Amino acid sequence: MKSLMMQGTRILATGSAVPDSSLSNDEISKIVETSDDWIVTRTGIKERRLLTGHNKSVIDLAVVASLNALDKISMNPAEIDLIILATSTPNDLFGSASQVQAQIKAFNAVAFDLTAACSGFVLAMVTASQFIRNGTYKNILVIGADVLSKWVDWSDRSTCILFGDGAGAMILQSSIKEDNQLLGFQLNTDGNQSNCLSLVYKEEINSHPILKLHKGYFKYIVMNGKEVYKFAVSQVPLSILKCLNSLNISINDIDWLLLHQANHRILKAVADKLSIDNEKIIMNLNKYGNTSAASIPLAFDEALSQGKFAHNDIIVISGFGAGLTWGTIIVQWKL
Ligand code: ACO
Repeated sequence: MKSLMMQGTRILATGSAVPDSSLSNDEISKIVETSDDWIVTRTGIKERRLLTGHNKSVIDLAVVASLNALDKISMNPAEIDLIILATSTPNDLFGSASQVQAQIKAFNAVAFDLTAACSGFVLAMVTASQFIRNGTYKNILVIGADVLSKWVDWSDRSTCILFGDGAGAMILQSSIKEDNQLLGFQLNTDGNQSNCLSLVYKEEINSHPILKLHKGYFKYIVMNGKEVYKFAVSQVPLSILKCLNSLNISINDIDWLLLHQANHRILKAVADKLSIDNEKIIMNLNKYGNTSAASIPLAFDEALSQGKFAHNDIIVISGFGAGLTWGTIIVQWKL
């Protein structure tokens, strides 16, 4: 009989994986009309990693990131109860999480995909924490992984400069309430603005003349950069404020601001709107670009490995992106 007590959630370990192959701004300027100076000034991105090689997919990156996290705490994969793979670039429309489950030998885990673009990791963390809080599962592997390079129009300079491939993993475990690290969350969706950023299915009319079926295909990422920028800069601070207020935490208590790594101007504008010192912004997008669902766990893993987080530090995590979706999680780090 499972306990119905509300459990706390601890972050046990994180891991990451990026492809070996990198593409610098100078190299991209040989593909489309752009320059290192334009890209760095407008986005902060210097280079991005791209998954190359035959039959390589988001699963390969997700597996490496997951094993990396498991290795750090010498956890047997058989102890994992649930795997949530946040991705918008699965290798199979029926889902890729089950293949990750098989490859890491987490044979006792239920596994499913969660699609919410660049907010995917935040939504997956919150989903996982609900299974932990109500006592259903003890150990949950949350993965954010995307290979947007497969879905970018490499002739569109307004989008192809932005994205990169990667994966990040986080192992969450139930704990006593006193050790809880996930203090609260705040989530939002506005489907009326979905056309600001999309990768839609396009139908070909009457592809089957007798059955009158409409078959189609997914093509490229389409984005209205200015609208996405305005959305992020206006809505993310509000989400953070709502979440902080619900927990009676003041802006001055924030130690780290870990936002989806979309663009350095967005990160700084959000910090400035909230009067958060720029020194508190965690940023690694210069090396990886926008890796969608992977960006938050990649940045978290890097900050953790650099020893940035001290006991009781308040870390504000916010994701935002297609949908449109956005949301915040407040973490209190415990050593
Ligand atoms: N190199 C050189 N010039 C370019 C490039 C490029 N790569 N891309 C666009 N331009 C040109 C445009 O053609 C335009 O030229 P024009 O004035 O002659 O028409 C000029 O630069 C300005 O273009 P804007 O689109 O107005 O440039 P802006 O300052 O808005 O910057 C950018 C574009 C970087 C995309 C910005 O709008 C932005 O960061 N938006 C947010 C995008 C984002 O972060 N998306 C992802 C978040 S959600 C998620 O992660 C899925």
